[in-house]
Amino acid sequence: MRKYESKIIPAKKSLILLIDSNLTKLRKIGNYLKSKNFDVVLAQEGKSALESVNNIKPDLILLDLILSDMDGYEVCEILKNRSETKDIPVIFLSTESATENIIQGLQLGAVDFIHLENGEAELLARINTHLKLKRYTEELEQSNKQLKILIEELNKLNEEKDEFLGIAAHDLKNPISNIALIAKILINDENLSKEDIKGFANDILVSAERMLELIKNLLDLNKIERGELVLKPRLFNIVETIKFVISTYLEKAKEKNIIIKQDLNNKEIKIVSDENAVIQILDNLLSNAIKYSPFNKSIHIKLSDYKNYLKISIRDEGPGFTDEDKKNLFKKFARLSAQPTAGENSTGLGLSIVKKLADAINAKINLVSSKGNGANFVLTLFKNVEEYFNE
Ligand SMILES: Nc1ncnc2c1ncn2[C@@H]1O[C@H](COP(=O)(O)OP(=O)(O)OP(=O)(O)O)[C@@H](O)[C@H]1O
Ligand SMILES: [Mg+2]
Repeated sequence: MRKYESKIIPAKKSLILLIDSNLTKLRKIGNYLKSKNFDVVLAQEGKSALESVNNIKPDLILLDLILSDMDGYEVCEILKNRSETKDIPVIFLSTESATENIIQGLQLGAVDFIHLENGEAELLARINTHLKLKRYTEELEQSNKQLKILIEELNKLNEEKDEFLGIAAHDLKNPISNIALIAKILINDENLSKEDIKGFANDILVSAERMLELIKNLLDLNKIERGELVLKPRLFNIVETIKFVISTYLEKAKEKNIIIKQDLNNKEIKIVSDENAVIQILDNLLSNAIKYSPFNKSIHIKLSDYKNYLKISIRDEGPGFTDEDKKNLFKKFARLSAQPTAGENSTGLGLSIVKKLADAINAKINLVSSKGNGANFVLTLFKNVEEYFNE
């Protein structure tokens, strides 16, 4: 389990750049601000202050109206026109209280105007208010950015859901129409033989099974995507698991005269993982290998045992994947160029479930394939399973 050291992060001091040509005033205000726990950088001239401001990166600037080399308004205008400095609050320091000075300063983008004769307490209060405002503005901008990202993600999810529902509805329409059609025939045709009725009942069964498979896949996928899949890692013999999956497909393979060749290590190889997830992955890969292989071919299942991991390869001699197919590999409803060779059902969800399950159990799934040269899916299961026990 990861351990986090608890660190006390000291509150960052705010840095104030104080620009004033009067050295006595500069020192006096500077010392006062330091005594109030601010970091302070002093500058006597506008030009040098402007040159160094990018390096200093102050949180706030106190600026005198009259400087020796240029006037304070000019400095403020330059600061507000530069993208790097435009958001730094500028407060004018003045001993005059002429309204037009205040208006001109505020029009140039300064946030406040402080008359020093009002005393240091007011200076401090105003500085703190503007620093707080700056912090809140930054936080608000940050939240806005996150909100925008969230809205974009939500829109994307919504579009995906719409597409998902559209395809699912389309896939359910055919078997349901088929069942409705058969029902009409059964109602209207009184001359049907027992054999005919049996045939129609069989058609209904096939349609119902297609729908059930689609719904089961959709529910599986939904469960994984919602994070509701509860993994139950335990120690099991992977050789037996592979043999079990193969045994469930022997009949189907025989119907297509496909031979499943096994190169399994016959000794026991125990690993810790969620066995059901491993079975579901292998089941999908083997079902595909049989579904997309032409008749009279072979499927090769190989287990290779390494120190920290093992690899299970399921290789077929079917049409393989084109480069275009590979771009859509593991996507939902991705029915690619290969077609079932004996009219089997195809919902296009199996491989997306495989990928999500593999991710969930920290396994890797790779495909080696090119058009016309068969497909070889390789599942890598890691033996280092610490994370299972530590969660
Ligand atoms: N071994 C394979 N060889 C060639 N193409 C394959 C192979 N496995 C899958 N494909 C292609 O990838 C597509 C997606 O496969 P996936 O398993 O996700 O769905 P599916 O087999 O069509 O339906 P299901 O949801 O019932 O598994 C298939 O439609 C097929 O075109
Ligand atoms: Mg499949």
